[in-house]
Amino acid sequence: MTVAYAPGKIILFGEHAVVYGRPAIAVPVTQVRAQVVVGHGEKGRGIVIVARDLGHTFTIARGKAKQMTNPLQIMVANALEYLGLGLERDLRITIESSIPIARGLGSGAAVSTAMTRALARYFSRELTAEEVSDLVYEVEKLHHGTPSGIDNTVIAHQRPVYFTREQKSETFQVAKPLLFIIADTGVESPTKMVVGAVRQAWEESKDRYEALFSSVGDVAKRARWAIEEGDVDEVGRLMDENHRLLQAMDVSSSQLDALVKAAKRHGALGAKLSGAGRGGNMIALVTPQTCEVVKDALEREGAQGVIQTEVQVSMV
Ligand code: MEV
Repeated sequence: MTVAYAPGKIILFGEHAVVYGRPAIAVPVTQVRAQVVVGHGEKGRGIVIVARDLGHTFTIARGKAKQMTNPLQIMVANALEYLGLGLERDLRITIESSIPIARGLGSGAAVSTAMTRALARYFSRELTAEEVSDLVYEVEKLHHGTPSGIDNTVIAHQRPVYFTREQKSETFQVAKPLLFIIADTGVESPTKMVVGAVRQAWEESKDRYEALFSSVGDVAKRARWAIEEGDVDEVGRLMDENHRLLQAMDVSSSQLDALVKAAKRHGALGAKLSGAGRGGNMIALVTPQTCEVVKDALEREGAQGVIQTEVQVSMV
């Protein structure tokens, strides 16, 4: 049996605009994770994928590989093909994840990443982060339609990334630790739907949306600089600016706005929605002194789950 894990992620700056070629910043969140175990399967049953949290079991029966429709089956098939192995085998693959689904924390990309790594290890192979990211991206397209590739990149590399579509992702120095509270609205919001809505709005008002995306891209560039310089207050101000731009794109919601306001009222340095929006999670930048007060305020405002995560100092 082999086991592999992958973390969740949050987007600090640049969601949506990143789909249209602007830079964005994302970091892994190790407080939540997906776990995939690969072991011998029952003889003759083919590949059995047990998704514990979904309460579903998917099978790739021997001789029936053409009938796959689920992204989990396709991820297994793509990974085995990439490893030069066929599908005519008996395996039992068990997935468990503490990453809430459709909340902007990268649950799909994390499951795919852990799955790819666990399969490679089971067959005594190691894949580079780049290879894993590329394989996961193919399946992200099935989940999300037109993903930028930021989720698979940050999760497969497990380090902060400054990401621009179709360019090699960069990592960067973090001069001072950044402490975040992640608060869940409890509202599921599939990325594919929100990305589709933004595309429609962009098609109807191209100039307006292009200008919004460029402003977001500019915020992400300034944020990278602020993180590298250790200017934590400026990081907070830029999060507020990014949230206003996301509101103007019409991807916020009354719950997200209420959580953002509550965090700010109780001393957060900055707060914004994170991920696709219209539901899912928001993030607040706090200090060790304000952390508990902001957490309590978010819970009182109706947050369904609150996670604390720190981006640690790192040099490149
Ligand atoms: C989703 O985590 C982030 C979006 O920008 C979509 C994408 O980049 O593919 C909304």
